[in-house]
Amino acid sequence: MRNPQLNERGELRHLLTLDGLPHEVILHILDTAASFVGITERDVKKVPLLRGKSVFNLFFENSTRTRTTFEIAAKRLSADVINLNINTSSAAKGESLLDTIDNLSAMHADMFVVRHASSGAPHLIARHVKEHPYLHVVNAGDGRHAHPTQGLLDLYTIRHYKQDFTKLSVAVVGDVLHSRVARSLIHGLTTMGTPDVRVIGPRTLLPRGVEQLGVRVFHDMAEGLRGCDAIVMLRLQNERMKGPLLPSAQEYFKSYGLTLEKLALAKPDAIVMHPGPMNRGVEIDSAVADGPRSVILPQVTFGIAVRMAVMAILAGN
Ligand code: CP
Repeated sequence: MRNPQLNERGELRHLLTLDGLPHEVILHILDTAASFVGITERDVKKVPLLRGKSVFNLFFENSTRTRTTFEIAAKRLSADVINLNINTSSAAKGESLLDTIDNLSAMHADMFVVRHASSGAPHLIARHVKEHPYLHVVNAGDGRHAHPTQGLLDLYTIRHYKQDFTKLSVAVVGDVLHSRVARSLIHGLTTMGTPDVRVIGPRTLLPRGVEQLGVRVFHDMAEGLRGCDAIVMLRLQNERMKGPLLPSAQEYFKSYGLTLEKLALAKPDAIVMHPGPMNRGVEIDSAVADGPRSVILPQVTFGIAVRMAVMAILAGN
């Protein structure tokens, strides 16, 4: 069956998930992003690749990094950017998601960047707009399902600091169960040939059968971190938890919070990542988050180039 994200020529039509996205497509996005990093460091940070195109940011769920970096990325590609304020839009009066999409399509939208609390919402939109061949949908995070551009910027960051995916041990730590970021990164890492992807967390926060994604499972933080090249810390996503899954945030920090002592178990040059937002003192100690091994803020900066690459490739440039 054809990947619904690709058109009949095998080109990227939508970006909905990294699950099943071919190695060469991911590599093309990462290489294209590398070419955009230089632009983001110039005095004049604009290229005309999306001139005349309209990018609609539709964030039905809160965001700081993703929404802002998509806006910056689209503007650097010279697109017109429309940020729909969901709270003051007619969605608040009961208009359905697909009616909103139909109305924005009638305004000649070229791209929808969608964040939604419901897993599958961007897929639904992509199916709905299939009669508009030049309209693209980018998933900016749907429920606990996928966050492909975060996965890509995480891959970009890992490649930037560690070069070769095929020689790495990467640990993803914490609330994997509710994390779209973890799912996207795991799919991306395994597609890129990372031989040792580990998930570390309490049983209550790891999905049943997670091994089937090609990862090794650890419940003991010290054991799981030993010899790692990169550590990706995850936030406890309380807003998605049904009932209490942990005794307390303090207990969690004691077992799974990343401190300097625990970091010392990884390789001496291991990098520390976090998609944000961070909860200091819950999953990560400030001494680590602000320390020399942290690449948390570079992740955000790379996110601009990665999102530029995704939009430029979708638009055929
Ligand atoms: N990483 C991430 O998705 O952050 P935001 O929720 O702030 O966009």
